[in-house]
Amino acid sequence: MGPVVTSYNVISEDGYITDRNRDESFIPDATWGEFIKLIKDNDVVVLGRKSYDEMYKGYSPQLIKEFEETKTKKVIVSRDLSFEPKSGHVKAASPEEAISHGSKILISGGPSLNSAFLAAGLIDHFIRLIIPVNIGDGLKPFPQEPKLVVESSQRLKDGTTLETYSLS
Ligand SMILES: NC(=O)c1ccc[n+]([C@@H]2O[C@H](COP(=O)([O-])OP(=O)(O)OC[C@H]3O[C@@H](n4cnc5c(N)ncnc54)[C@H](OP(=O)(O)O)[C@@H]3O)[C@@H](O)[C@H]2O)c1
Repeated sequence: MGPVVTSYNVISEDGYITDRNRDESFIPDATWGEFIKLIKDNDVVVLGRKSYDEMYKGYSPQLIKEFEETKTKKVIVSRDLSFEPKSGHVKAASPEEAISHGSKILISGGPSLNSAFLAAGLIDHFIRLIIPVNIGDGLKPFPQEPKLVVESSQRLKDGTTLETYSLS
């Protein structure tokens, strides 16, 4: 059996992962803990090169520290042969190469990386943490929303909702 791949995104109630300026400030820092928990449940976490850049440019040192301190292998996907991620991260040139690094893989991509994984038929499960705000416009997790069936839905104490889905 191949690796099990889970796609994770934090989205607004109306389905966006960033606003129209690629700003994620509608996402409370407190939701980072859910991401860290999921990272620890997997042996590999995969980011697209652009999300990786955004994280190191814009996130607080505390959030980055929590991310870096997880023992989970961190794989950054890029087609750029000259790209060298920071120490503690490895690069992969394709989704297939990224998942060759382990057996339980969490991907947290933007629409570009997510759609590459989806098109390659590599995503087994989807998890979304839904923030109860509407932001009107922005980036969606997938350029074309896949047909998803809700498997579970859990309202968390902070008012967010954690949902899991499979492809219909
Ligand atoms: N709210 C959330 O849950 C969440 C999660 C993740 C990201 N985001 C946001 O989403 C935005 C980024 O999304 P994005 O779609 O622009 O970028 P992305 O998916 O993070 O990364 C795209 C990059 O990944 C690499 N890539 C993608 N497909 C590939 C393939 N098939 N083979 C090899 N490399 C591939 C390319 O890197 P190179 O250009 O280096 O070749 C591409 O430019 C950011 O604003 C980020 O903050 C939000």
